[in-house]
Amino acid sequence: MTQLILGIETSCDETAAAVLEDGRHVRSSVLHSQIMLHERWRGVVPEVASRSHTQRIVPIVQAALDEAKVRPSDLSGVAVTHRPGMVGCLLVGLAAAKALALRYDLPLLGVDHVQAHIHTALLTRQDMPLPALCLVASGGHTALWLLRAPLDAIRLGTTRDDAAGEAFDKGAALLGLSYPGGPSIERAAQNGNPKSLVLPRSLLGPDSLDFSFSGLKTALLYHLRGPGVTEPPPVLPPARVADLAAAYQEAIVDVLIQKLSRAAERVPVQSICIGGGVARNVRLRTRLQESRTLSALQLVLPEPSLCSDNGAMIAFLGHLQLQRGLTSPLDLEAVATPDAGGKAAPR
Ligand code: KG4
Ligand code: ZN
Repeated sequence: MTQLILGIETSCDETAAAVLEDGRHVRSSVLHSQIMLHERWRGVVPEVASRSHTQRIVPIVQAALDEAKVRPSDLSGVAVTHRPGMVGCLLVGLAAAKALALRYDLPLLGVDHVQAHIHTALLTRQDMPLPALCLVASGGHTALWLLRAPLDAIRLGTTRDDAAGEAFDKGAALLGLSYPGGPSIERAAQNGNPKSLVLPRSLLGPDSLDFSFSGLKTALLYHLRGPGVTEPPPVLPPARVADLAAAYQEAIVDVLIQKLSRAAERVPVQSICIGGGVARNVRLRTRLQESRTLSALQLVLPEPSLCSDNGAMIAFLGHLQLQRGLTSPLDLEAVATPDAGGKAAPR
């Protein structure tokens, strides 16, 4: 019998739903992005986000079911992000998922959002050789994970301050580029010279697999207006913005590549994969393919729409959990913090 999992994602600023068939075929994937709502604040405003999820959740879930030509009663389970994220946002998705599970007597599958990003590579390539080293780099998280087997990932290193996506977002704000910063820095960098400015690469000592990006943002700020100066950074000519964007992007990508290479040299792995919004970055993807250490391994780069937040990755992890009988109770809670790196099982 065909297995159909509905995946619901509302942890941040995307209201997303998808239907996944038999753990491999994405029958539908529908998404409403709130970027327009948060643009003027240059970051996600929690209450604005949860109110928007409340308005969008029913039509988005309905659209995912319609597009997949599936009735709720045809579903085998409902997967939903229950951690980590903004609690007011998570609660919207959880309420929708619980209502469907209760009404149609379906298993509820509480999913960890970061684990969903990690496992997306297995949705892209089901035969990805394991163990795999996975970089998850998004607006809220940046960490290296060792995926030993499905639902068995351990964290090797994480950021001590800003996430890589956050560094892109803050750098873009300093350069007067639009929010979210990743895509706008990437666009501006296309016409720039990455060698125009040498920015710091924080590697935190020879053995560390942790990340730190807050110094990079400060270095750019000081370059623009000098330490101790309180006026806003000056408006720069487009060619200068392009050069600085290219140098800034290169500094972030360099650190991500160096940490991946360091981990790959230390831990025996068969594959390398990436996930999270920053994994959409073309320079990062190109550098991965060019790296001698990394390209010697099986490289799995999920398509960009599967890297940033989406419902299909939630449905896929839900599918893996259902296969193992890891269903969640109907009083499943929303949890703000990420799993610190144990197994990808629901709490
Ligand atoms: O995974 P995601 O969609 O949401 C979170 O879970 O945070 O990631 C969003 C982050 C933002 O910080 C955004 O600037 C960054 O991913 N991002 C990018 C690109 N597209 C999105 N960063 C670099 N290059 C991109 N093309
Ligand atoms: Zn994410």
